[in-house]
Amino acid sequence: MKKVYFLLTIAALGINVHGQKTVDQKVAELLSKMTLEEKVGQMVQYSGFEYATGPQQSNSAAVLEEIKKGKVGSMLNVAGADETRAFQKLAQQSRLKIPLLFGQDVIHGYRTTFPVNLGQAASWDLAMIEKSERIAATEASAYGIHWTFAPMVDIARDPRWGRVMEGSGEDTYLGTQIGLARIKGFQGKGLGSLDAVMACAKHFAAYGAAVGGRDYNSVDMSLRQLNETYLPPFKAAAEAGVATFMNSFNDINGIPATANQYIQRELLKGKWNYKGFVVSDWGSIGEMIPHGYTKDANEAAEKAISGGSDMDMESRVYMAELPKLVKEGKIDVRLVDDAAGRILTKKFEMGLFDDPYRFSNEKRQKEQTDNPENRKFGREFGSKSIVLLKNKGNILPLSKNVKTVALIGPFGKETVANHGFWSIAFKDDNQRIISQFDGIKNQLGKNSTLLYAKGCNVDDQDKSMFAEAVETAKKADVVIMTLGEGHDMSGEAKSRSNIGFSGVQEDLLKEIAKTGKPVVLMINAGRPLIFNWAAENIPAITYNWWLGTEAGNSIADVLFGAVNPGGKLPMSFPRTEGQIPIYYNHYNTGRPAKNNTDRNYVSAYIDLDNDPKFPFGYGLSYTDFKYSDMVLSSTSLKGNQTLNISVTVSNTGKYDGEEVVQLYIRDLFGKVVRPVKELKGFQKIFIKKGESKKVDFKLTPEDLKFFDNDLNYDWESGEFDIMVGTNSQDVQTKRISWTK
Ligand code: BGC
Repeated sequence: MKKVYFLLTIAALGINVHGQKTVDQKVAELLSKMTLEEKVGQMVQYSGFEYATGPQQSNSAAVLEEIKKGKVGSMLNVAGADETRAFQKLAQQSRLKIPLLFGQDVIHGYRTTFPVNLGQAASWDLAMIEKSERIAATEASAYGIHWTFAPMVDIARDPRWGRVMEGSGEDTYLGTQIGLARIKGFQGKGLGSLDAVMACAKHFAAYGAAVGGRDYNSVDMSLRQLNETYLPPFKAAAEAGVATFMNSFNDINGIPATANQYIQRELLKGKWNYKGFVVSDWGSIGEMIPHGYTKDANEAAEKAISGGSDMDMESRVYMAELPKLVKEGKIDVRLVDDAAGRILTKKFEMGLFDDPYRFSNEKRQKEQTDNPENRKFGREFGSKSIVLLKNKGNILPLSKNVKTVALIGPFGKETVANHGFWSIAFKDDNQRIISQFDGIKNQLGKNSTLLYAKGCNVDDQDKSMFAEAVETAKKADVVIMTLGEGHDMSGEAKSRSNIGFSGVQEDLLKEIAKTGKPVVLMINAGRPLIFNWAAENIPAITYNWWLGTEAGNSIADVLFGAVNPGGKLPMSFPRTEGQIPIYYNHYNTGRPAKNNTDRNYVSAYIDLDNDPKFPFGYGLSYTDFKYSDMVLSSTSLKGNQTLNISVTVSNTGKYDGEEVVQLYIRDLFGKVVRPVKELKGFQKIFIKKGESKKVDFKLTPEDLKFFDNDLNYDWESGEFDIMVGTNSQDVQTKRISWTK
């Protein structure tokens, strides 16, 4: 008992059992020495002088002086052992020598880039996703970076929104699991490890629901919808100890997220008891003026800090206004202490007060530049992200001995484009990026020939290269077309109203198809595209996203069958833009459309089917999987019982392969209406040809909970459909009852 009292006493004093001060105590001591300006300084973040994603007001010389005065807490876009060391030296000239935090957008890899995030999500492979972030963190931290602005855990149901490429798609459950895997990967063994970076759950919140899919646009939705669909990945991230949050550019029901007391104070720092800090998005504090929410910078600072924004990224509003607001008594200094304290806590946890230069290490940086092991993983991960959409007549995999193969399309010999958007660490310093052409050529047999024709540009109306492409196709036994959208046509500020292949690519495809040669179409994109003609007329289609440094090798591994594709779509693919937003877990309505022919006074379009071109969870394999009847442990459950669900999946085809077995439920009636399907589990399994595997799932009442309009989170007695299958449409269903 005495020992317990002793522990309680020292805990209260902020001292740990070894007599050392705890981080809380160190922070309190430091804060007590700081002037108001120094505290606010911790809440200021400027960008280095590259990679601006918004208007930059910086005058570089002035920023350097501010750092020396202790008026800057963090820099973004400052990277590299040299550069971070140089900046840190400036901070060490300040009165209290408080180290800087270096942040950067490490979004899908760093020196080694991996598939764009939506492509990674298509792998449904949590272990690989985690490992990719482990590698990204190891590489980035070796370049002196402490903090990544990732993962983006915004749920997005609108492929017009360019930033879908940066997230995990439309589903809350899948998005939550992937977000958690990413945080684990980034933060590794914990903050303070030399190969860990602080992660950042962004963009808090509902940024992915921008009206019309137009970036930065408003969001207007019920709090129930917000809590049920958009917030769970953030709540899970907070619970998992993500070091930071970033808020978002949008307003939510009229209040900009940056000043949103409900999400940042009441939920995040209140109910969820989150101890990390919140950085604004680029300039989002100042942008509350054009947004029409605050009349000037002074009011913007007041609203932002009251709303829970701890760090001002590039608005330059906090340093200019917060000290005044405190002195005038408009802002309680305790809000500043709390914000600065949260930031300092992370600096202590990262070990920066022990050694501010600990991450700026040239030797590590060299080891992590074009690291062959990382590239090897990148190659594998790339191939696991590819989704096979069609394979009529089993054209794929191709034999390596096809005599003549033609690669046609504007992306065939591209290198840098394979990175996709958000690949900031790429420097044109001879870094090898495997083009699609080289990847295919390297695997083709010695006696085979690979021809190439560009055919057209990515995004113009020039058809002058068509003739050469057609001639090239005519010489080949198989044509591989590489089409899609430009690598820089998805990403931030890359909303598109028309999401077909850009330019004249579809016309090119039609011309090539006329040659009668077998065509394999590879689609490069950061979002779901619309390509109905191709889907109907081209026998084999793979969705390749943008695969990163090793793209060409990953692609060739799938084309020639070294890897059997097992990716599944993380978003519904629409038939036309008119179907957007389109997502599998919609409500039924009182007049559901039963099929695509009866459109009489049902919830349908008179000129368009309701279902997507390719559903959520869809993806083929070179082999065939057969599902046995699912077995439930009970069809009538009570209270806190567990429902066990099992199904046996057999590989009846000719190749070993991976399958993502998906579990959905439907709550048939509720005090608020429930979606027609909700993903509640999935398992990615490898099955050798001719073999079978039993897959088990469990459901508990926790999985049945939902928010009502008073934001109570609970489940109700009733009937539920349990569904298991290979995608969100192709499922088998059994009904159960579950009573409280
Ligand atoms: C983006 C953020 C990003 C930040 C810093 C903003 O424009 O919305 O996601 O982290 O820039 O680059």
